[in-house]
Amino acid sequence: MPQLSIIVPTYCEAENLKNLIPRISQALEGSDISAEIIVVDDNSPDDTSAVCQTLAESFPIQLITRKQERGLSTAVLAGMDAAVGEFLLVMDADLSHPPEAIPDLYAALKNQEADFVIGSRYVNGGSTEENWGWFRKLNSRIATWLARPFTNVKDPMAGFFAFSRHHFLQVREFLNPVGYKIGLELLVKCRCRKVVEVPIHFADRTQGTSKLSFKEQLSYLRHLKRLSEFKYRNYAYFVQFAIIGLSGVFVNLAALSVLLHWLIRPVAIAVAIWISMSTNFLLNRNITFSYAKHSPILKQYIQYCGSCLTGAFFNGLTAETLCRTFDYFDQRTLLAAFIGILTGMAFNFILCRYLVFAK
Ligand code: GDD
Repeated sequence: MPQLSIIVPTYCEAENLKNLIPRISQALEGSDISAEIIVVDDNSPDDTSAVCQTLAESFPIQLITRKQERGLSTAVLAGMDAAVGEFLLVMDADLSHPPEAIPDLYAALKNQEADFVIGSRYVNGGSTEENWGWFRKLNSRIATWLARPFTNVKDPMAGFFAFSRHHFLQVREFLNPVGYKIGLELLVKCRCRKVVEVPIHFADRTQGTSKLSFKEQLSYLRHLKRLSEFKYRNYAYFVQFAIIGLSGVFVNLAALSVLLHWLIRPVAIAVAIWISMSTNFLLNRNITFSYAKHSPILKQYIQYCGSCLTGAFFNGLTAETLCRTFDYFDQRTLLAAFIGILTGMAFNFILCRYLVFAK
């Protein structure tokens, strides 16, 4: 039974694999680490699979070829599902992650200094190539900053990391990443407490091209949404609900400014309210509560309108009750109205979450 399973996702990496596998083998030579290498290839149209099969004659490689699925994160999960080692390590095929650092990552786990270890560009001693342009640096920094609510590690975007299979199996059923950031998914979900970052130099690939497209970057936002719902649950839904509620104010005012040219004021106001309520409904259905977007829309819409009316009722009731009951609010109508808005929103949210868009 190998101690370490090294998982390498590949898509069109024939040239890189020829260098990577001997370098991994060399890095492990002289150490007492017994390892298996699992290459997960998504049916690359180049020679990746043939190269891998040839290499497998000399190195302990298992090739998994996926024909129905594409994607880095799910490829890594497929590799982890097939792995038998005590520890799992993930790295790119393009040699941006130095195989020579594998023994350091492994040692941190084996000596129990860490539950989860990352080959990190952004700790002391870590680095990237000097020629990174400002856009690439900014992109990487923004992506890292967006992950802040989930983890304090310096390089949560890293694709070079290791942890125990035991931790993986404990959370396997909760893993549902989209896009590239399988490391972040595991950091958030794997219940690892001691996370250690080992400095590495992140080299730019010299063969082939990156597959990190704009579409993958959008997937990262979808992934963050999923992670926030996993970690923060109702708070995450509420924040999305509130942002969409706020956007409704702008839709309302924009619609009103147009409608006032054609309709008498009371009718224009009513139509603008209906328009903003409807756009809010569509946004909440497709974004905030997207898990319910396949339920019958008409029923949801009618319930949503009812929920908004209920919210508006409690909004008015709260403001009026505060002003009538407390002298303090009698002089501060706007503050009472604001508390009314928050109360109405809370009622509306609860009805939406547990009735209109119930799971
Ligand atoms: N099986 C499979 N399927 N593998 C894939 C796919 C896919 O759809 N897309 C990419 N890969 C493989 C590549 O072949 C490579 O081995 C590894 O995943 C990384 O893909 P790249 O496209 O080279 O990623 P990158 O260099 O832009 O992104 C790197 O930087 C990130 C940090 O900012 C990678 O190192 C990421 O892992 C890392 O998170």
